[in-house]
Amino acid sequence: MEDRKIKERIQWLTRELKRHNDNYYLYNQPEISDEQFDMLLRELSDLEILYPQFTLPDSPTQHVGSDLFTSAKIEFAPREQFDDVITTKFQQVRHRYPMTSLSNTYSEAEIADFHQRVCKLLGSETPEYVCELKFDGLAISLTYQEGKLLRAVTRGDGEKGDDVTNNVKTIQSVPLKLHGNYPEDFDIRGEIFMPRKAFDQLNQERIENEETPFANPRNAASGSMKMQDPTEVRKRRLDCFLYFLAGDDMPYDNHYDNLKAARSWGFQTSDYAVKRYTLEQLFEYIKLWEEKRYTLPFDIDGIVIKVNSYRQQELLGFTAKSPRWAIAFKFKAERIATELLSVDFQVGRTGVVTPVANLKPVFLAGTTVKRASLHNADIIQALDIHERDWVFVEKGGEIIPKITGVEISRRNPDAKPVSFITHCPACGTELVRAEGEAGFYCSNEFGCPPQMKGKIEHFIVRKMMNIESLGEGKIEILFDKNLVRNAADLYELRYEQLFGLEKVIENPDGKSKRISFREKTVENILNGIENSKSVPFERVLFALGIRYVGETVAKKLARHFKNINALIAASEEELKQADEVGDKIAVAIRNYFADERNLDIVQRLRNYGLRFEIEESATTRSDKLSGKTIVISGVFQHYNRDQYKAMIEQYGGKNAGSISKNTSFVLAGENMGPAKHEKAQELEIPLINEREFLEMIDGIEAQV
Ligand code: IVH
Repeated sequence: MEDRKIKERIQWLTRELKRHNDNYYLYNQPEISDEQFDMLLRELSDLEILYPQFTLPDSPTQHVGSDLFTSAKIEFAPREQFDDVITTKFQQVRHRYPMTSLSNTYSEAEIADFHQRVCKLLGSETPEYVCELKFDGLAISLTYQEGKLLRAVTRGDGEKGDDVTNNVKTIQSVPLKLHGNYPEDFDIRGEIFMPRKAFDQLNQERIENEETPFANPRNAASGSMKMQDPTEVRKRRLDCFLYFLAGDDMPYDNHYDNLKAARSWGFQTSDYAVKRYTLEQLFEYIKLWEEKRYTLPFDIDGIVIKVNSYRQQELLGFTAKSPRWAIAFKFKAERIATELLSVDFQVGRTGVVTPVANLKPVFLAGTTVKRASLHNADIIQALDIHERDWVFVEKGGEIIPKITGVEISRRNPDAKPVSFITHCPACGTELVRAEGEAGFYCSNEFGCPPQMKGKIEHFIVRKMMNIESLGEGKIEILFDKNLVRNAADLYELRYEQLFGLEKVIENPDGKSKRISFREKTVENILNGIENSKSVPFERVLFALGIRYVGETVAKKLARHFKNINALIAASEEELKQADEVGDKIAVAIRNYFADERNLDIVQRLRNYGLRFEIEESATTRSDKLSGKTIVISGVFQHYNRDQYKAMIEQYGGKNAGSISKNTSFVLAGENMGPAKHEKAQELEIPLINEREFLEMIDGIEAQV
């Protein structure tokens, strides 16, 4: 290859790898599998060795991926994609011992190289290895002093990470207090993960609530750790295995015995760590877990081999990025070939058409796969899929399997390429492609049955109007009988219309279910509809189904505009004044209210008595803080910062971002920023702690 091409390739790889690092660590939405990532990284690393003159200073081969949001990244983060209230406001803390990652490989030959290197460097000494599972979650470093958990910090960029102590304290298997003969001051590291059962339940709930499900337990664990409200984190039922100790006065001179000791102090360590000596034994351990990994109640993505003796570890030392005394063997994403039977095109609530492949069932990574997403037209084209092709299906840790390639040698010469449809399969409208988007959609929003039904189904979900007595199947019946066309029609339903309705519904898995509207069913439905009239404004707003207006954005809009009239009247610029609202959301809101048909639905819902303004008592509870300008700083125990901000407003005060001579006082939590602390002292602004603040606004702590 000529130099120019190599330089360009290095630039491209550097850029792409950085983007994928951010997708993985920051947004918890990886686009490619770990294996694909590692292949790109290796290609870059090989090129950099041959052509060091083209290496870029910020090459990802020199740094570990970072889960820290920098201000630049916050700006570009697709905030509306996040259903969780994640925070970018954790205090950053420098690690006492840098958090390096491990060099990893997919090949047994490289494990043999590793063993050989270790033996060579140790000379006459024979290594003793500890083989462990490689847990698939996010790394955490815990500091214990005098037997108490002092701090929990994410890996971040390896040098400094986010202080997530309050979130970690909600994990039951992380001890807050140690027992036995523990060292005075040490760090212990491990992996926070979400057990598969908790993951399945969480995703099921998210699907019911129309939130985007997490792709895999790792993303779910990592997304949970970034939430700002520990009570929400607690609900995620995370777990933690500890696998590494660092400190000056460890009881033993080797990793294995210290891990055992850590267990006696109260830590959860893995039962599957074993001592091994020969290369054959290492291969056996790899093979064992490659086969048995799906019998575990949590995900692993490989195994880790560590030299046990600390003295030998020291002899072996570190490279720029990772220790020479350890290596990770990563399992390849399992891949299998199967026949493509047909492609369905599904129309969603917002009209987007998604192609789904029906496959000849195959067993893959612990489950039988019958369907796989084809994402969009570009992917179909890129894969060049033909009818009845043999395709490769892969599960790279994701729940929904992907088609990653085609076995062209098995293609029937007469096979026609699969083409994306041009018209809506449900209503026949010609499909359009929105600028800058990969998907085609049907624009017949008010006349296309799956879109109409989808909107009503969205409306009744628990987190919105909570009319759960009207499940999916029932909406279908009402729709087919022409009793409802939109959400407002629900409020005109009468007992006589519903009683006695019946239908047998065929599920995609072939099983059928009879749904009948008996007396009790009808009463429950009508009660559910009636009760929904007291659902607060923010949830009504969420239920309307405005594009990109999820739970969080709806809350922010409700708080900002206070009632629907103000929201309808708001210009794009005014909309953007609300927290979390950027161009894309503002345009979507404007488009929604520009359509008479939507305004008509809103007007009808209003007439039926739904809430279209924020409750007065929620805006101002009293004027105890009237005239006060308050700055919030640090981390709190009882409520999070957003909740304190809301309280300040509710009690008539004003929240400000920075300290000035006009500041009345600082509501100071733990780990208040040093700059703010200094400024407050300089201007003699009082610091009020959480308890004092709660007392000030009327014994709220009684409710804590
Ligand atoms: S040891 C200095 N042991 O895999 C050694 N890591 O790139 C520190 N991991 O960042 C790591 N299971 O998040 C170690 N049994 C295990 C592990 C493990 C999972 C993760 C960890 C680390 C990454 C390695």
